[in-house]
Amino acid sequence: MLAGASLALSPSLLAATRPVDENSWALLADLHIAADRTRVAREINMTRHLQIVSDELLALPKRPAGVFVVGDCAYNSGEKEDYATLTDLLDPLRGGKLPVHLALGNHDQRENFWEALKEEKTAKRPVEERQVALIATPEVNWFVLDSLEKTLQTPGLLGQAQFDWLAKTLDANSTKPAIVLIHHNPGILGTIGGLKDSEALFEVIRPRKQVKAYIFGHTHRWMHWEDPSGIHLVNLPPVAYIFQKGDPAGWVHATTRRDGLRMELRGIDTAHKDHGQVVDLKWRAV
Ligand SMILES: [Fe+2]
Repeated sequence: MLAGASLALSPSLLAATRPVDENSWALLADLHIAADRTRVAREINMTRHLQIVSDELLALPKRPAGVFVVGDCAYNSGEKEDYATLTDLLDPLRGGKLPVHLALGNHDQRENFWEALKEEKTAKRPVEERQVALIATPEVNWFVLDSLEKTLQTPGLLGQAQFDWLAKTLDANSTKPAIVLIHHNPGILGTIGGLKDSEALFEVIRPRKQVKAYIFGHTHRWMHWEDPSGIHLVNLPPVAYIFQKGDPAGWVHATTRRDGLRMELRGIDTAHKDHGQVVDLKWRAV
């Protein structure tokens, strides 16, 4: 805890006083936070990586409108204690008035997650049994879906209830660009361990031209490409460890505008060649 005299210098308190940029968003994935803060995996300390990102977010001259964590919040099997540590690590962001929106991945456990993050459990969810949300903002509607089918099983599944809600909600919100956030990558030809029902997902989102991007984590790789329909597919880097040597770990600073999205890669290692890389996505026509 902070002593009284140092309160004035708390990064959270400082962040809370800064103006909000309504179009600025922090996109994070694959935190893999373990109960034990000192835990190291693949040569990195996951807690330290999240703290580096959190410190950077709190120091931005303008406060982002929100933070998304696109799944794999927990280290491996989604233990209650992992989420207790995660809650503590997210406190500075919440104290800095940065809303944090969490999605689940295959290393999460839904009941443990809800038990530890009480406010998530009591939040009104449009699809009762899943961690699903619509975050409506001036420039864009963010759809957070839940692809956790079974903890520790690599592939994911959305299921019919989420497709029904997504289709219905997109139809009711057709004039504003929509971005879909899902932990799992599309399970397209040649890839394993992705979203098992991605064809059904594409059947919902391809014809609904307001859907502009599908953003995911899971593979721990920073990549982006375009579906033939014009939907942007964005693979976020992991905040935690990389799988392939040379890939960046970090987060993406996204800035929304009516006709697209500016993404800036923020590396944990600021000497990484991709740190500061800017990718400008232009939305497909309606
Ligand atoms: Fe992961």
